[in-house]
Amino acid sequence: LQYFFSAKALAGKKLLITAGPTFEAIDPVRGITNLSSGKMGFAIARAAQAAGADVTLIAGPVHVPTPRGVRRIDVQSAQDMLQAVMGSIEGADIFVATAAVADWRPASAADQKIKKDGSGAVPQLAFVENPDILATVAQLPRAQSGDLYCVGFAAESENLLANAEAKRLRKQIPLLVGNIGPATFGKDDNALLLVDAQGHQELPHASKAVLGEQLVAEIAKRMAR
Ligand code: CTP
Ligand code: CA
Repeated sequence: LQYFFSAKALAGKKLLITAGPTFEAIDPVRGITNLSSGKMGFAIARAAQAAGADVTLIAGPVHVPTPRGVRRIDVQSAQDMLQAVMGSIEGADIFVATAAVADWRPASAADQKIKKDGSGAVPQLAFVENPDILATVAQLPRAQSGDLYCVGFAAESENLLANAEAKRLRKQIPLLVGNIGPATFGKDDNALLLVDAQGHQELPHASKAVLGEQLVAEIAKRMAR
């Protein structure tokens, strides 16, 4: 009987995950976004579902099919994503933040399309900082007590290990995953650097599908100890 229950690493666990970019409107026809494809997050969602978890996936604008058995909520902006996350976080055991959330948004979005005025003058965009979704979740009492296990991702262009360690401590999360190598956005494969309180470990170059399964196993292992 014990073997039956231990067969799936995340059986009975509720996992919430963000994926993809966010889109921050400038006016009704334009906005600011980034090159995140959502593939890594969707692969983790699929692997977690296969590992027995009840999975909710909050996705920015992406073109990736929803993994079977996964509940998906589509959002546009960082503010929408925060609202969707907070609306689904109750009772979650694991939160994984793979989304490439826009750090800034236009201070205000124009109601109508911004038009050229013929003089060659360009619009002056002012920005405000978006809420940090992962940091907000990590501050919840259930996260601070360890009942909600939070996993962050880091996109860095230099000094991956040092930046990842600093980011893990700054966000107060048990596990931070760095993308090794440049330009993982949109690709079907990746390599990951796992940074936790014990140190760091590499998941070598593989498909995002395989890495998703390996990461789910690593999360389950860390939750069990
Ligand atoms: N994140 C988030 N909300 C934000 C910004 C980031 O939830 N507004 C999450 C990402 O999903 C990721 C982690 O925080 O899991 C780190 O994101 P990253 O962009 O690497 O770090 P930042 O804290 O935004 O710092 P910077 O971009 O300046 O390196
Ligand atoms: Ca950022």
